[in-house]
Amino acid sequence: MSETASNRPDLPAEIARRRTFAIISHPDAGKTTLTEKFLLYGGAIQMAGQVRAKGEARRTRSDFMQMEKDRGISVSASAMSFDFNTFRFNLVDTPGHSDFSEDTYRTLTAVDAAVMVIDGAKGVESQTQKLFEVCRLRDLPILTFCNKMDRESRDTFEIIDEIQEMLAIDVTPASWPIGVGRDFIGCYDMLNDRLELMDRADRNKVAESIAIDGLDDPKLAEHVPENLIEKLREDLEMARELLPALNPQSVLEGHMTPIWFGSAINSFGVKELMDGIGSYGPEPQPQSAEPRQISPEETKVSGFVFKVQANMDPKHRDRVAFVRMASGHFKRGMKLTHVRTKKPMAVSNPVLFLAADRELAEEAWAGDIIGIPNHGQLRIGDTLTEGEAIRVTGIPSFAPELLQNCRAGDPMKAKHLEKALMQFAEEGAAKVFKPTLGSGFIVGVVGQLQFEVLGSRIELEYGLPVRFEQSQFTSARWVHGPQDAVDAFAAANKQHIAEDNDGDTVYLTRLQWDIDRVERDYPDVTLSATKEMM
Ligand code: G4P
Repeated sequence: MSETASNRPDLPAEIARRRTFAIISHPDAGKTTLTEKFLLYGGAIQMAGQVRAKGEARRTRSDFMQMEKDRGISVSASAMSFDFNTFRFNLVDTPGHSDFSEDTYRTLTAVDAAVMVIDGAKGVESQTQKLFEVCRLRDLPILTFCNKMDRESRDTFEIIDEIQEMLAIDVTPASWPIGVGRDFIGCYDMLNDRLELMDRADRNKVAESIAIDGLDDPKLAEHVPENLIEKLREDLEMARELLPALNPQSVLEGHMTPIWFGSAINSFGVKELMDGIGSYGPEPQPQSAEPRQISPEETKVSGFVFKVQANMDPKHRDRVAFVRMASGHFKRGMKLTHVRTKKPMAVSNPVLFLAADRELAEEAWAGDIIGIPNHGQLRIGDTLTEGEAIRVTGIPSFAPELLQNCRAGDPMKAKHLEKALMQFAEEGAAKVFKPTLGSGFIVGVVGQLQFEVLGSRIELEYGLPVRFEQSQFTSARWVHGPQDAVDAFAAANKQHIAEDNDGDTVYLTRLQWDIDRVERDYPDVTLSATKEMM
């Protein structure tokens, strides 16, 4: 393997071998299939097909609800750990549906890199682009897998150009496809001068790999038809001239993405990609925090909550907080400080997600994801430390794009509704606003589907039928500024003011014009579409 980049040379070996990443892709590009092959090679599952159930469940709304009901599946798939060669991979699942983009954003705060999967026939699609932009905000390193090369696909240069143009990132080929569609026979591994041949007969078989001594090696002709060798020579010559060579540092900085070509369903190119994640993917990275950044090699343990999943078992109102370990070596039973409330918390039943199974986590290192069952103390954005008052930053909450009034079917149950809504708000599933004037709640989400999922979960988990109705407001903004200015503003605009589930002041309106007016008339307050979770 060629040179490997490491920007953190002094990490303990257990931390240095961790790779924590997510897969980003447009629906149908092959994320589920690739995940399954990862787990297969990681020895985490015995048979292909086990992750599939979930991928398919996502397709339609009714199936999606079924999946949501089946908390076990969706939760254990939220984070998966497995070993590959000398590495420990932690794969964090991003929600598939675009309506859950806020959740996706927060998930991406818990990883150090992303694998971008694109369909070789379709190139960069809308959802790929959106997710890529989120990764860019954090300069996350991105490794690219161009999938479905066993089918008719676009010209290799064209695909690479499209990624460079649309995503404004340098692309360097780690492998080069040989033949197209039915004639696709495999790839030339440009990093190791190897020929990788695909076996179409056995989808779970790892590709045959043949060491080649450059393109003039006579062995090439034994495996590749003459016309394809000619084309491969021309292509590689052009590629080496026109495309940048792999620069591991540039990959780590998020300016360059290496691209592997393959076919997830045929298990082809997956191992090379996994090798690539090991070699070029980053080790656990420092975490931005206040008043100081946290480094993974610090001996004191710290971690932060990036996702909360409630009511996994509707009979017990339990929740699991997903915690990304930011530093140190955690051991089961440790007492950590919950920084927001300053209370100690004994973490005695942490869970590790090994593919489809959950097991008690006896230990965890910086970079790992553990689940901590709790009764609501842990919220998204919370930091756990060994005592130091330090708070992880950069986990935002976005203003919702859709607002609706929410009422209990039975008016006597308003209190119950409040409790249920607060629960979902804390889980990050919706924003809940309580208007200063009048009664009831306004619920805000990013996509329409969330209202439906929410309605069904409230009914299922709390036995409470609810109605969503059109709200007179369409936008929500958090009000920031000196307390007296915020109070004066709120008093003068009562009909527009609400409190969010954390008790922060929110301005509701239906006109951009109103927002502009406030900014003009109240120079001491600012209206903002994001808020830091804390
Ligand atoms: P997603 O999670 O990104 O939505 O994609 P998923 O893996 O579910 O794959 C979407 C479809 O693409 C599936 O077909 C899957 O079998 C197929 N696919 C994945 N990788 C490859 C590949 O390398 N080559 C080809 N030709 N197809 C691939 P489906 O018809 O929707 O499902 P199924 O009937 O195969 O289960």
